[in-house]
Amino acid sequence: MSLHKYIFVFCFLLLTSIIVSAQNNNQVIRSKTVWNDDKGSHINAHGGGVLFHQGRYYWYGEHRLPKGDAPSGGVSCYSSADLCNWVNEGIVLATTNEAGHDLERGCIIERPKVIFNPITGQFVMWFHLELKGQGYAAARAGVAVSDSPTGNFQFLRSGRINAGVYPANMTQEERAFIFDNDKYKEWWTAEWYRAIDKGLFVKRDLESGQMSRDMTLYVDEDGKAYHIYSSEDNLTLHIAELTDDYLHHTGNYIRLFPGGHNEAPAIFKKEDTYWMIASGCTGWQPNEARLFSSPTMWGPWTQHANPCIGTDAAITFGGQSTFALPVEGANQLVIFMADVWNPDNLIDSRYVWLPVEFQSDGTPTIAWSEQWSPLDFVVQPEPLFSLFEE
Ligand code: GAL
Repeated sequence: MSLHKYIFVFCFLLLTSIIVSAQNNNQVIRSKTVWNDDKGSHINAHGGGVLFHQGRYYWYGEHRLPKGDAPSGGVSCYSSADLCNWVNEGIVLATTNEAGHDLERGCIIERPKVIFNPITGQFVMWFHLELKGQGYAAARAGVAVSDSPTGNFQFLRSGRINAGVYPANMTQEERAFIFDNDKYKEWWTAEWYRAIDKGLFVKRDLESGQMSRDMTLYVDEDGKAYHIYSSEDNLTLHIAELTDDYLHHTGNYIRLFPGGHNEAPAIFKKEDTYWMIASGCTGWQPNEARLFSSPTMWGPWTQHANPCIGTDAAITFGGQSTFALPVEGANQLVIFMADVWNPDNLIDSRYVWLPVEFQSDGTPTIAWSEQWSPLDFVVQPEPLFSLFEE
């Protein structure tokens, strides 16, 4: 190669590395655009949640494979110091070729969430699992653990929830009521809705355990953890307490809004109020978000107006909720995380991350923002460094 060709190649490589490092030093969040990881690939972590641990953020989500909605590629993890630049930590929970295994390739893993247990020192992942070849019929929750936030997670088991146990907020009268199941073969009638309200499906699933699909986890200030999931054929949300090691359910759980068709729950606490954002139930298509609040995890939960405001508020800006992330050190910042699903190519589903705003009465609202920066919420110079230093 002649000297001027060497110089040309050198200049080209220099320019490329400047562009790449400029891209890699992004400090803004642009919802719905392609978000590249440190290797330049679109982040593949859908239906996910973020764990903050020892100064670093860990984003876990569904690793989708090209085309279609199954099979699952496992759970992926990305890490970041600033919520804008993400390092691909790989697949932290993989499917397996072992025939008959709960995670046999061909299964569907959705909405994984990870929490840290200070008693055991373990990272605990819960996720929605559908068994290979069964569509969405299994409606199970799976659990896996790891000693490190970046895995690998060891799968423990999957199943339905709280078998043989009635929800704490089901009255004695409801528990004693005997349904004439033949009367409710036709769904969506007024009579059927009344029966759902009284616990028709809770009873149907009492012995096998309650169904669990869309889900999130929430750890309260006292260290108690809760599993919040769409149950009863996606008709009713349940909030179930986890044991102190976060690996089992205690049997203490409640039903929320029977027949309300709430999916994709995301929970955060602001001052003394628990807020929950959920979606309606329209598959991959976006719908209007729902907002609920309660003074305790056990209720009473109250429904509010759609928290989204402005253009496309009626379809949650094209997204579906997945997680609410309070950002430590950033004044008041809670990030609403949602997925803009592309069912024809789920890998290319995009992310909507927007800051939650709080009205003077404390009610959260979410407005569209073309781009914004978590740095805008950092008011003290000290936290800015401890929070955003690589
Ligand atoms: C949605 C749900 C997604 C996925 C999808 C499958 O309602 O929120 O997580 O399960 O259905 O159609």
